Parts: sequence; structure tokens; C-alpha cells
Amino acid sequence: MNESNGTVLVTGATGQVGRHVVAGLRDAGVRVRALTRDPDTADLPGDVEVVAGSQLDTVELARHLDDVSAVFLMLPGFDLDALAESVDVLGERVRHVVLLSSGAVRDDVSPGDQPGPIAHAHAVVEEAIRATGVSWTFLRPYGFAANSLAWAPAIRSRRPVAMVAPEVPTAPVDERDIAAVAVRALTEDGHEGARHELTGPELLTPARQLEVIGEVTGRHVTWEEQPAEDWARSLLGPDTPDEVIAGMVADLTDRDPVRTDTVARVTSRPAHTYRDWVEAHPDALTGSLPPVSRGDADVVLVGTWRVADADSQRAAARAVLDDRHDRPWPTGLLAHSVLLGTDGHTLVHYAQWTDEDALDEFRRTGRTAHHEAVAARVPGIERRDEGAYRLYREAVPERPLEPGAVVLVSFRTDSAATGEQFVDELIRRHPVTTGEPVADGMAGNHFHLALDGSRTLNWAEFATVEAHERVVAERLNADDEVPQLVERTPGLEPLGFQRFVPYRTVHGRPAR
Ligand SMILES: NC(=O)c1ccc[n+]([C@@H]2O[C@H](COP(=O)([O-])OP(=O)(O)OC[C@H]3O[C@@H](n4cnc5c(N)ncnc54)[C@H](OP(=O)(O)O)[C@@H]3O)[C@@H](O)[C@H]2O)c1
Repeated sequence: MNESNGTVLVTGATGQVGRHVVAGLRDAGVRVRALTRDPDTADLPGDVEVVAGSQLDTVELARHLDDVSAVFLMLPGFDLDALAESVDVLGERVRHVVLLSSGAVRDDVSPGDQPGPIAHAHAVVEEAIRATGVSWTFLRPYGFAANSLAWAPAIRSRRPVAMVAPEVPTAPVDERDIAAVAVRALTEDGHEGARHELTGPELLTPARQLEVIGEVTGRHVTWEEQPAEDWARSLLGPDTPDEVIAGMVADLTDRDPVRTDTVARVTSRPAHTYRDWVEAHPDALTGSLPPVSRGDADVVLVGTWRVADADSQRAAARAVLDDRHDRPWPTGLLAHSVLLGTDGHTLVHYAQWTDEDALDEFRRTGRTAHHEAVAARVPGIERRDEGAYRLYREAVPERPLEPGAVVLVSFRTDSAATGEQFVDELIRRHPVTTGEPVADGMAGNHFHLALDGSRTLNWAEFATVEAHERVVAERLNADDEVPQLVERTPGLEPLGFQRFVPYRTVHGRPAR
């Protein structure tokens, strides 16, 4: 299907797959028209023609078909009447349709007998496309790697992930690979009438997928089993007949695992592994805060920078993390996080290292170039107050929240022993230990001691900045327990606190 002379219309262009189809066609030099319901928020490349409409509105769709030779069609929901009308229009106006269908579709049964509503909808649209006589390619992906984003809220708030069929293996497919196959089918001959069954390159259980997320992001991720019936009912609705629920469950738990090599065959390069996918989406899964509790970080370098204004804060944060990406990753650096001070001037770096030797080596050999590269992009950075710490003890509520703010509370100490005694005492009185109610919005305290014994740092996570403001107003008056303890501890001097919001974390490639 050589479309070099025509425009390709991409529906679902802002979606997980469609966005990569747009990018891939553009890179291949093909004229692209991207369909979205809201061009203003589409955030597509500036040189791509973006038009307003929906594939569920035949009139709107028809308006954008001039010069179009091929269409990437995806189903945004199951309004099958609307889709049937749109398919008729496409059949009349274009030469080739590449449908994002589903691996759930079975060729040995009619659309009415497909296993479940997803297979049914895609089978109906496939049949409608075939009936028009247009040239077609059906992409039939199995479960997307991106489905793991459903686990993100639990991971971010350190709750167990509710997992359906944790031991049933699948081969999750990366949306970039589905798009790459789509681009081939839209631009090359030889895909007419093909049903491309698409999976990732490896079979792995959902439980193993979570382990990979933990390995890449340094989080301790746990799960608990969710009954498959509950899962099916939450997807299909409470009034769904029992036999439909049973069919969906059987389709999930009884099917033979499928793994194909179609991506590699069609694109002439290996399909992305699940680990590749996680490495491309760590923030979406775990949020932008550092994995403070990780056990393999022996040393944490905490440093603050001051810049002129809020724009420079973001520019400096972006520059430092871009530079991490651009040059070889330092040996022993596990993760580097940047947070932005709510004062509009401060940034804090939280860099987790395997050990002191690795940190020293970086300080000797890599640091100057790193700083110079950042300074070249953002002049006027004042580096202040840097120290190497070790995580000492933590107090995390049993039902923690997703943190949206971090407060750094610092103390000068005359020795490491003073810091230890103070933290031990704080933990002994902490609501997490005593069983009293935890302050509303408090997500966890992570106490760090400076390696040289000169500081103690409480990395305190809260749901929001406002939640910390409430704690200050309600619990930190001079005669409250914690200020009293600070007052009474010899060798300890409070240095105040600063509030931050997360910017981003970049992760090293873990040893395999
Ligand atoms: N997830 C899986 O495991 C899996 C497996 C096999 C097949 N599939 C199929 O893959 C498709 C999903 O692909 P995807 O993840 O790339 O899509 P997506 O990201 O969920 O959505 C694509 C775009 O569709 C548009 N959209 C959403 N609701 C709409 C509506 N009511 N009317 C018109 N447009 C709407 C949105 O764009 P605008 O807001 O810009 O208009 C959205 O960005 C589905 O058909 C699904 O059945 C999924």
C-alpha cells in the first residue's frame, strides 16, 4: 500500500497508539492529518495538520477526507451504529483502512458469538470494513503494556496492587510497536488483507510485571489478588448477566498464552520488552518522587540550589535531568530526583547512590562537566547546602496516600549519636508507632542522618502543601510534643523547614 501521494488520516491521534502513528508517519515523510475532538489540547507536533472531529461523527469525519488515501481507524468505545456509518463513508472515499482491532477477535466464530463485548465490537467493525470492499489491514494486538498504568494509583500510594489472574502469563505489547506496524501497513505494499496478531516478545505473569516495575523504579511493589469475577463486573457493569461475566473470566484465565513475532517480522527490528516499556514510563507508574525507601541506596546526596525565579527553577530542573540523560549514566547512581521549592527560588536534588565510593568517584570525575553543562543552559545558579546522608528510620502510615509535597525539616547535630537518639525518640512517639490517628494528609516521615554526623533531615511526605500547613498550625505550637522534644534534646539545633513539590525522577538502568 504505497501511499506516498496521499494524506493519511489518523483517528485517535492523541491516544496511546495514535500519537506514535502520527510521529512514525511524519518521520517517514508522509503527509498526516490528525483527528481529535480538541485540537487546542492535542499537543501534537506543530508541523502536523490537526483537525477537529470524531470517527463517531460521520459528517465531521467526511469533512476531513479530501486527498486522504489511507486511514488509521481506532474504536473509541463501542457505538457500533456510528462506527458502521463511518466505515461506509471510508469505504467510499479512501483506498486503504488500517484498523486497530483486538487479539480477542476469533476468526472461527461469527461476530455475534465472539467471547465478550470487546471481541464482539471489533469483529463487527472488521466485518463492516470487509463488506465495503475497501483494501484493509487488521491489527490485532493482545494486552497493551500500557494497561499497567491502571496499577499506578496503588503503586504511588504504596498500597498493594489489586491483581487479576496474577499467575496467568501474557506478552504485553508496547504501543510504539503497534504504531510501528500500523505505519508499515499504511505506507508499504503487502499488508492488504493481513490480520496482524501483535504481542510483546516475552511471556510474563502480571506478578513478574510488577517485579520489573520494582526493579526499574526502585520501589517495593506489592499485590493482592482481585477475584476475576469482580474485575469483569467492574468493567462490564453490575447488571451484566452471569454467563457473560463467566465468559470474560474464562477468556482471561483459560486461554493459552499467545506470543507472536509479528512486530519483529513486519518492522525488521525487535519488539520492545516490557522492561523497555517501564523504562519509558517510570513517572507515569510511580509518580515523580524518589523511591526514598529503597534498600539498595546506601548514600543519598541532598543539595539545594537557588535561582532567580520560578521559570529558572523549572529550566534548571529540566537542564540537570536532561544532562543526566545525555551523558553516560554514572556508575552507582540509582536515581536522581529534583523537587521545586514553593518559595519559587529553590530546587532540591535527592540523588541515591549505591555507596560512598561510587559517589566519590563521580565527584572526582563526572561532576564538573555535569555542572558546567547545566550552568551553560541556566546561568546564575547558586549551589547551597549539600550533604551526604543515609536513610536511618521511617514512619509510614499503614494506609499511606499518594504524596504530592515534600517538606524538608533540618537539624544541626553535634554528633550522629544525637541525631539517632532524637529520631528514635520521635519514632517512639510517632502516631504510626503509638496507634494514634495520623495527621490528615501525612504520607510518611523518612529520617536521614548526615554521614559526618552534622545534620539530621526529616524527609516528610504529605498529600499536599496545604496538608503540611494544617499540621504546622495544629500540631507544631511551642507547647506541643515535637517542639518540646526538640527543645529538650541537647546538641540539636533546629534549622527550619522548606516545602517542595515533585518535579521528576530519572532512574539508572539496574543491573540485570
Ligand atoms: N488496552 C488493550 O489491552 C487493548 C488490546 C487490544 C485492543 N485494544 C483497542 O485499542 C484501542 C485503544 O487504543 P488507544 O489506547 O491508543 O486509545 P486511547 O488512548 O484510549 O484513546 C485514543 C483517543 O480516542 C479519542 N477518544 C476517546 N473517547 C472518544 C470518544 N468518545 N469519541 C471520539 N474520540 C474519543 C481521544 O482523542 P481526543 O480526545 O483527542 O479526541 C483519545 O486520545 C481500543 O479500540 C481498544 O479496544 C486495546
